[in-house]
Amino acid sequence: MSVRLDVLPDPQAAAQAAACELAQAIETARAQRGRAHLALSGGSTPGRTYELLAATLTSFDAVELWFADERCVEPQHEQSNYRLVAETLLAASAIPPRQVHRMPGELGPQLGARRYEQALRRRFAQLPPALDVVLLGIGPDAHVASLFPRASALSAGERAICVAVSDAPKPPPQRISLSLATLRAARHTLLLATGAAKAQAVAAALGPPSADAPASLLRRERLHLLLDQQAAGLLPAAGR
Ligand code: 6PG
Repeated sequence: MSVRLDVLPDPQAAAQAAACELAQAIETARAQRGRAHLALSGGSTPGRTYELLAATLTSFDAVELWFADERCVEPQHEQSNYRLVAETLLAASAIPPRQVHRMPGELGPQLGARRYEQALRRRFAQLPPALDVVLLGIGPDAHVASLFPRASALSAGERAICVAVSDAPKPPPQRISLSLATLRAARHTLLLATGAAKAQAVAAALGPPSADAPASLLRRERLHLLLDQQAAGLLPAAGR
């Protein structure tokens, strides 16, 4: 089964479709396994999706919220992915704090990654953890989470669950990220990309698997690309 791909007219429509898909994945996980493990990314793209998710999902019972990556800053820092999610999703939904697993970026990459890996190991009997749905963005260089092109973190191996990043080309340089193995173990990955600046990265994500384009290393049979027209601009018309 190849990658699923949908192209929406504009960023608002893409955000709405992403929120609906996250809500659906959560409902499916709760129905099948009694719980839903969701991991979210940061950046400027997904904020609207998180606001719409809060309005779309009537109950966050049995929803466990994880993070795909985090910058090594305090949680209230303007660059914090946790702060983004807190201001958009948590502020408008009653997820009990014990169900929110914040990545402790303030501990720095090494200790923070180790602590988060311990939290995932405690919560998941099978490793790498099978998150039910992961929302990813994509950088212009086709990075996902904090897995950047040709980074050593990309070859951390199947046993790595969380990785420390100290040389991210996208500031800040110090980050924590789920590993490629953990991203590939997710049951469903939704990659949301909007804007012409992402068109080349989206095309690379669909190209031959390469460490030059980390998005191309995701598990395609579990991947859904949700794009607006601009981000799909370099795809063959049939792909739109
Ligand atoms: C981060 C994000 C990162 C993001 C992409 C796209 O911590 O920076 O998790 O992976 O999804 O860089 O960022 P934009 O949405 O801002 O383009």
